[in-house]
Amino acid sequence: MKILAILGSPRKGNSEILLNEALKLCDKNLHEINILNPCQLNISGCTACDGCKETGYCIIQDDMERVYPLLKDSQRIIIASPIFFFGIPAQFKLLIDRCQCLWYEKYVLKKTKSSSNKRKALLMLVGGMKKGEIGITCAEATLKAFLRTIDVKEHKTLAYLGYDEPGAILKNKSVIDEIRDAIKELLQND
Ligand SMILES: Cc1cc2nc3c(=O)[nH]c(=O)nc-3n(C[C@H](O)[C@H](O)[C@H](O)COP(=O)(O)O)c2cc1C
Repeated sequence: MKILAILGSPRKGNSEILLNEALKLCDKNLHEINILNPCQLNISGCTACDGCKETGYCIIQDDMERVYPLLKDSQRIIIASPIFFFGIPAQFKLLIDRCQCLWYEKYVLKKTKSSSNKRKALLMLVGGMKKGEIGITCAEATLKAFLRTIDVKEHKTLAYLGYDEPGAILKNKSVIDEIRDAIKELLQND
């Protein structure tokens, strides 16, 4: 299977730990794994020029050109991201906003090719606030809209709150088991 992993954090911190734990469980001999770090990519913001309305293609030439095929062709998507201001980091949001062309392709031009395999995703979100549920709700809502747009219909979310310092997530002893169960479920064919 083609697996796409997206790391939303600009630092080496909790999201990276979550993503690495998840990827350890994906056999590299069985799966093609691609990792995207939007914070290290050159991605401009959507200008709402609406050029994609007619074509389904974005006219901006930057690193999104290599991101689009991965979004379209991967059977499984694993996302690990921190909560920033009740949402996701701006660098990751740039990538999502640039999927407006895929939104037009799917909902207006109706050209999206439905994959024969059911595509699934795992979201892992981490926030520093102990009572930051609204951050999880808002970030998950954005990511749901993203997944729907790229035609991924099913997802599971693991959310962790109260982990602020890099590495703090390791204090949670149930994380590893939760990720193991979630990856097992994610890789199942049904
Ligand atoms: C700019 C910024 C905004 C943040 N906003 C929130 C927030 O709204 N809610 C929250 O729970 N944590 C917030 N945090 C804390 C981070 O989510 C937390 O430190 C998390 O562990 C970072 O994950 P990382 O180590 O993967 O980068 C914010 C951190 C930064 C730097």
